[in-house]
Amino acid sequence: MRIIIEKDYKAMSKKAALIVASQVLLKPKSVLGLATGSTPLGMYRELIEMYKREELDLSGIKTFNLDEYYQLPPDNPQSYYYFMYNNFFNHINIKPENIRLPKGISQDVKRECEEYETAIEKAGGIDLQVLGIGENGHIGFNEPGEHLRVQTQLINLTDETINANSRFFESEDEVPRQAITMGLGSILKARRILLLANGKKKAQAIKKTVSGYLTTKCPASFLQTHPDVTLILDKEAASLLS
Ligand code: PGA
Repeated sequence: MRIIIEKDYKAMSKKAALIVASQVLLKPKSVLGLATGSTPLGMYRELIEMYKREELDLSGIKTFNLDEYYQLPPDNPQSYYYFMYNNFFNHINIKPENIRLPKGISQDVKRECEEYETAIEKAGGIDLQVLGIGENGHIGFNEPGEHLRVQTQLINLTDETINANSRFFESEDEVPRQAITMGLGSILKARRILLLANGKKKAQAIKKTVSGYLTTKCPASFLQTHPDVTLILDKEAASLLS
């Protein structure tokens, strides 16, 4: 694992955007795995700026998002579909047909999950997967527990995640209890992985992520088995590393 520690959120976001941009410069038809949440917002803003300055052409990329809330329609402002268009896709020159997120309102979830895996494979696999991390060590919505899923699945969110994500909703009651997420196996198949974390609240999860131990209690710890993972942290998220 490569660990890059930056002084603050802005520096972390810039560094992440540079890595994503270099991936696209070297391979304009890159397949990118993308994440939602507050962590990657700064990175998306930097990428939009690079595109506006005509330093970056995103017309060739294909994207797959990590996850989507179950039964939130795309026009719901809390859906990840809405998030991605609002915060990134609407501001760059990506082709709409090259954008894919799990369909939260799918009638046949099992089929949707299978088709998602197939679509990633058909695209040639993910070149660079961007990840945030939950305070509980989840990546995507692969929550800590007895077992971790290999492939894209419908999962139950933990109380911790429902509580952490309630800040985006009017009340905790409105947070969906289930989501479709790429599995840990789907994530680990990516050729390169970039995980971003900032703030003190993430320090414990980051410590477990690089601990030298694998545990389903911290799904991100399995990233230690991947040959090309880069963590970009701000000082606070890195504060428990020796
Ligand atoms: P956050 O979420 O970026 O909003 O902290 C990260 C996550 O839960 O994966």
